[in-house]
Amino acid sequence: MEEIRGILAANKDRYLEELLALLRIPSVSANPAHKDDVLKTAELVKNHLLSLNVARAEIYPTAGHPVVYAETEQRPERATIMVYGHYDVQPPDPLELWESPPFEPVIKDGKIFARGACDDKGQMFMHIKAVEILQELGDLPCNVKFVIEGEEEVGSKNLEGFIMAHQEMLSCDVIVISDTSMINNETPSLTTGLRGMSYLEVHVTGPCKDLHSGTYGGAVDNPVNVLCEMIAALKDDKRHITIPGFYDDVVELSADERHKMSLRPFDQTEYNAELKIAATRGEAGYTTIEQASIRPTLDVNGIWGGYIGEGAKTVLPSKAHAKISMRLVPNQEPEKITELFTAYFKSLAPPSVQVEVAYHHGGLPVVTPIDSIGYKAASAALKESFGKEPIPTRDGGSIPIVAMFKNVLGVNTVLMGFGLNSDSIHSPNEHYGLFNYYKGIETIPLFHKYFAEYSK
Ligand code: BES
Ligand code: MN
Ligand code: MN
Repeated sequence: MEEIRGILAANKDRYLEELLALLRIPSVSANPAHKDDVLKTAELVKNHLLSLNVARAEIYPTAGHPVVYAETEQRPERATIMVYGHYDVQPPDPLELWESPPFEPVIKDGKIFARGACDDKGQMFMHIKAVEILQELGDLPCNVKFVIEGEEEVGSKNLEGFIMAHQEMLSCDVIVISDTSMINNETPSLTTGLRGMSYLEVHVTGPCKDLHSGTYGGAVDNPVNVLCEMIAALKDDKRHITIPGFYDDVVELSADERHKMSLRPFDQTEYNAELKIAATRGEAGYTTIEQASIRPTLDVNGIWGGYIGEGAKTVLPSKAHAKISMRLVPNQEPEKITELFTAYFKSLAPPSVQVEVAYHHGGLPVVTPIDSIGYKAASAALKESFGKEPIPTRDGGSIPIVAMFKNVLGVNTVLMGFGLNSDSIHSPNEHYGLFNYYKGIETIPLFHKYFAEYSK
């Protein structure tokens, strides 16, 4: 540990400069205009991997953005750790709400402000620096493989094919991912579950063209009004989702599991104050922590239709649209939930409109074991670096590839994230604490060490 801290202290500034350079490339996977930037980022990641003492590092093209793969020399007597991360980022908009430009990183109040600082360039890059430190210390305790993808923020659509096609190359004993959050900087935690997802877009069409709202209004049905009615009907007054069969496969936690969850530090007043809300309003019968992690959700991500320009225009719009996502929990399946949603949503439509539902992407929820070698190694590593045993927590976000790793490769993932919920990922002014960045770099080599030890 002292040796790790020594190397870290001597190289701190360079580790930071290298991350800042990575953050300057706008690798927005959702926007085709950034295709070249995404590729440039993949190349930079590959070059960093090459500068480690790796056996090979390569860019694998896919039908979408490329996957960067690298491996150290693989010795059969050593256990193998596979690192997964993503080098793509969310779109930065709304740009006007950033205090400094999203792709010109600045350090303020001990935090790095930039799109991708926490999600996931900062967290992914900690693993590259950690292996660099381990190599300086001598022989690696474990074989290491890196899979760093460029499409996580758009649903990892092409990564499944990559995994299917390279099962042998990707064989490993554990997968480690830093792309989640911990409770706070004094309370380390390990994520033991992620929600799944079904992401849809709905279109409601009324008359064949926009109409004068005086001439026709009152008689001809308005698709925007109809869409609002239909969305409102998707939840009851207890905020339960009304889609028939929606909860059929949901695993309810035992009273004991719910009690354990309730013991983690959480302050509702602070939570509300940070978000500047007077109250939360989730599903009745569940705590805030439960609502945001072990319960499924249905949310409108965006809604549009009719006139949204300057001033007023009297119009009865022809069409209305919404992007709707449902977060899923074990054992809900995105295909089944999508079918249930589609059938029910269409049944809600009055005869005056037509409804279409299109599927964007989805992913399975996942729960990871806490009695695995991987979990125990991560727990020991965090205990050594923080001086405190980490608390297992279920997170509300999604990383669709984790369930695929389990189903295709048969390997468990350790979700050892160093972010904070307050890091504003996917929002303006995303940031990542320097404390968190360096703590990750310090902890990950210990994870390698303990994983090797416990695998013997
Ligand atoms: N890193 C996040 C997921 C995350 C965030 C997990 C916070 C736990 C806590 C990831 O990059 C992400 O944003 N995933 C998407 C997945 C979607 C595009 C399928 C998400 O959760 O919305
Ligand atoms: Mn992420
Ligand atoms: Mn993300």
